[in-house]
Amino acid sequence: MDPRSEVLLRQAELFQGRLLLAGPPADDLLGQLPAAVGWSWHAGEQQLLDRRFGGRCSFGVAPVPGEFDAAVLFLPKSRELTDYLLQTLAARLNGRPLYLVGEKRAGVERAARQLAGFGRARKLDSARHCQLWQVMVEQAPAAPELDALAHHFTLELADGPLQVISLPGVFSHGRLDVGSALLLEHLDDIPSGRVLDFGCGAGILGATLKRRYPQSNLLLLDVDAFAIESSRRTLAANGLEAEVIAGDGIDAAPRHLAAIVSNPPFHQGVHTSYRASEALIERAAEHLVSGGELRLVANAFLRYPPLVEQHLGPCHTLAERDGFRIYRAVRP
Ligand SMILES: C[S@@+](CC[C@H](N)C(=O)[O-])C[C@H]1O[C@@H](n2cnc3c(N)ncnc32)[C@H](O)[C@@H]1O
Repeated sequence: MDPRSEVLLRQAELFQGRLLLAGPPADDLLGQLPAAVGWSWHAGEQQLLDRRFGGRCSFGVAPVPGEFDAAVLFLPKSRELTDYLLQTLAARLNGRPLYLVGEKRAGVERAARQLAGFGRARKLDSARHCQLWQVMVEQAPAAPELDALAHHFTLELADGPLQVISLPGVFSHGRLDVGSALLLEHLDDIPSGRVLDFGCGAGILGATLKRRYPQSNLLLLDVDAFAIESSRRTLAANGLEAEVIAGDGIDAAPRHLAAIVSNPPFHQGVHTSYRASEALIERAAEHLVSGGELRLVANAFLRYPPLVEQHLGPCHTLAERDGFRIYRAVRP
């Protein structure tokens, strides 16, 4: 059981009504709280919960419609996303309680200050390195519009300007990442066919690839619903068409790909994890056609080349700048 769930269950009597769990961990909490439903924006966790608790956890950038007696927000990493989620939940809870639970090192104490806008917040519990806060929503705010929270910006790229729309919580929200910038300069000679942007974020790489290689079918995949929605908006803003897939890891990608292009993930929550990137490298060959290419940007300190050579083939460094490297390997 996730420690945040354990903290909730210490006061289980508070959570027996129609409860919305926003961003719940993939554990047994829904099993312990039979009247609760979940809302997740993480495709992997949602899939696990949905399989286990058939239809009780939805996926997306907004909760399922309906009346709730209370809601619990599991604190996400991004402050802007926390703002959006708290407002969204509070808008549905006039006169009812909204709870916030999170790890201390994830900044739950600071985030709890954001509850003050809805009423008098109080700390209910502190255990397992986590805190549980409650606020009775005295005056429900208007439901926030995602459009109003989106950052719109233009990247002046070699092939022309690209409009980008990024939503709260999305990687490098509102600006271009240094690693992605380097990769954008090294997108020549990508084999044509089905091309995957793995971990697409706001869709910058995928949209650029579709514009550069219009004859290719672009697939953009990310685990995060806000990234998926951002990518859809970025593609639409540039008049581009591509398939956008919500999925956890390379196993969620189709096979027979001509290329996989990625600035792969290296963070998860408050813990650093390279698991999704390592799995991408280990299993890229299963998803690429013969002659298909994996092109990555990564921090130079990460020991990806031996992994690439072990699982795919010779790993060439195409460029290096600002502590990042561009790697290229072709499936024999
Ligand atoms: C370093 S960011 C790159 C984003 C975007 N391609 C760019 O260049 O701006 C990595 C992305 O991978 C996504 N991600 C993290 N874990 C993932 C997983 N298990 N499966 C798919 N995508 C994942 C994150 O949500 C994030 O958008």
